[in-house]
Amino acid sequence: MAQIPTTNVTRRHLLLAPILTGVAMALKPWPAFAQSAGKSKLPIGIIGSGREGGAIGSLWVKAGHPVLFSSRHPEELKDFVAGLGPLARAGSVADAIRFGEVMFIAVPYAALPEIGRDFGAALNGKIMLDACNAVASRDGDIAQEIERNGIGVTSQKYLPGTRLVRAFNTMSYMIFAREANRPEPRLAVPIAGDDPEAVRVAQTLVQDAGFDPVVVGKLVDAARFQRGAPGYGQSVTAAELRKTLSLAP
Ligand SMILES: NC(=O)c1ccc[n+]([C@@H]2O[C@H](COP(=O)([O-])OP(=O)(O)OC[C@H]3O[C@@H](n4cnc5c(N)ncnc54)[C@H](OP(=O)(O)O)[C@@H]3O)[C@@H](O)[C@H]2O)c1
Repeated sequence: MAQIPTTNVTRRHLLLAPILTGVAMALKPWPAFAQSAGKSKLPIGIIGSGREGGAIGSLWVKAGHPVLFSSRHPEELKDFVAGLGPLARAGSVADAIRFGEVMFIAVPYAALPEIGRDFGAALNGKIMLDACNAVASRDGDIAQEIERNGIGVTSQKYLPGTRLVRAFNTMSYMIFAREANRPEPRLAVPIAGDDPEAVRVAQTLVQDAGFDPVVVGKLVDAARFQRGAPGYGQSVTAAELRKTLSLAP
């Protein structure tokens, strides 16, 4: 098993619980809920239900999608999912993969190789939205591999068989929670992937979360909005992001 900086898990979840509950409570009542009504609801499995996974998964629950939030300690998510209502539930990583027609992963980047090894067979063929960023101080050498090869290609290497789309990696979870579904123009979320159907599903889920998707290109193009690249950290509209990245309007 890869060594992940887990510190004191129980204590960390205790610290995280009020943040996640706060995120869930801060989410506003929801014009998009009505907008989504009648559209098909996708069961979504979340791997990594911390700040980022908790925030984005909560947005999808609010949009009417059933979401299984997973943890290696699912009992610690009990209060969090109870606060989100009947569409949210907690379980193990294996439960999330069984449940999810679509997966969302938000774990420290260095955990990806281990997750790919342990759950590769179950993940095979799944659409996987990947929000993980690599930080050298936290994730070690894998951050250099990403600098060399690009983050989309690297994630696909460690999660082979998934239909991977990079998404939701460029802004803080607090911005996602606060700005979701704001009055037009909404904030842009850049996405990139090689599988056209997976990209279409990701576009819909970005919209359902309350943002405007901007398709930047294939997985290789995800390097254009990885940490340190021009598309990273941009809290801007779709038109502004397209201009920054010289994409067709
Ligand atoms: N925070 C942000 O604003 C933000 C924004 C965009 C992207 N991201 C990216 O999203 C990822 C998560 O960041 P975060 O801030 O949400 O971190 P976090 O609050 O520490 O949550 C990370 C979660 O990953 C899970 N995890 C860790 N190792 C795992 C493993 N081996 N197998 C399964 N689950 C594992 C942990 O779950 P358990 O311990 O409960 O199993 C934990 O809840 C990072 O790659 C980060 O760069 C973060």
